[in-house]
Amino acid sequence: METVIPPLDDDYWQGRYEAGRDGWDAHGVTPPLQEYFDQLDVATQPRILIPGAGRGYEAEYLHRRGFRNVFVADFAPEAITALALRVPAFPADHLLLSDFFELPAEGKLDYIIEQTFFCAIDPALRPAYARQCAALLRPGGTLAGLLFDTQFENKAEPPFGGSREEYIEYFAPYFEFVHFDTAYNSLKPRQGRELFINLKKK
Ligand SMILES: C[S@@+](CC[C@H](N)C(=O)[O-])C[C@H]1O[C@@H](n2cnc3c(N)ncnc32)[C@H](O)[C@@H]1O
Repeated sequence: METVIPPLDDDYWQGRYEAGRDGWDAHGVTPPLQEYFDQLDVATQPRILIPGAGRGYEAEYLHRRGFRNVFVADFAPEAITALALRVPAFPADHLLLSDFFELPAEGKLDYIIEQTFFCAIDPALRPAYARQCAALLRPGGTLAGLLFDTQFENKAEPPFGGSREEYIEYFAPYFEFVHFDTAYNSLKPRQGRELFINLKKK
């Protein structure tokens, strides 16, 4: 029987937050991203976007380390509100209650940070995700973060899994692969099942 994926729109995601179906929530910055962020140069104040940021622990970590050009985009009000309440000093105009695919493609960002957003979108949109990341980044800008390298049993709802071979197809037209390998410091339940990626826009 064919798997039918429901519309994964803002109502769907807000509903998951309200129902407490938020098993992805790590309640803090994850070790691979923390280690990556610690290598970034705060003095250059790079423009960083975290799409599908959820409750925004990574944005909070960057903000507390002094990064002042951090933006989050999430279309579920619960996600945006949680960050605003937890970190009142986070600039309100950097909290974008928006559909990632509708963000203006200005090509100005230095970094896009990925974590459990790519696996949350309908797999049919994966080529559009790669295209939109490329359109948002400046030439030489970086898409970094984590992608699942595993399959999940439930094919009708996120998270949706994937493989290296599949991902290469989406990203190769726009990016050089600086790093693309199994993360060594994943959260325990994700150990050996996610790739750390560092892709440079061509
Ligand atoms: C699985 S959660 C991951 C949240 C966060 N990245 C984390 O690691 O905790 C996926 C998030 O992406 C958001 N989302 C899904 N599709 C989106 C879209 N097209 N535009 C903006 N946000 C979206 C959802 O509202 C949800 O907060």
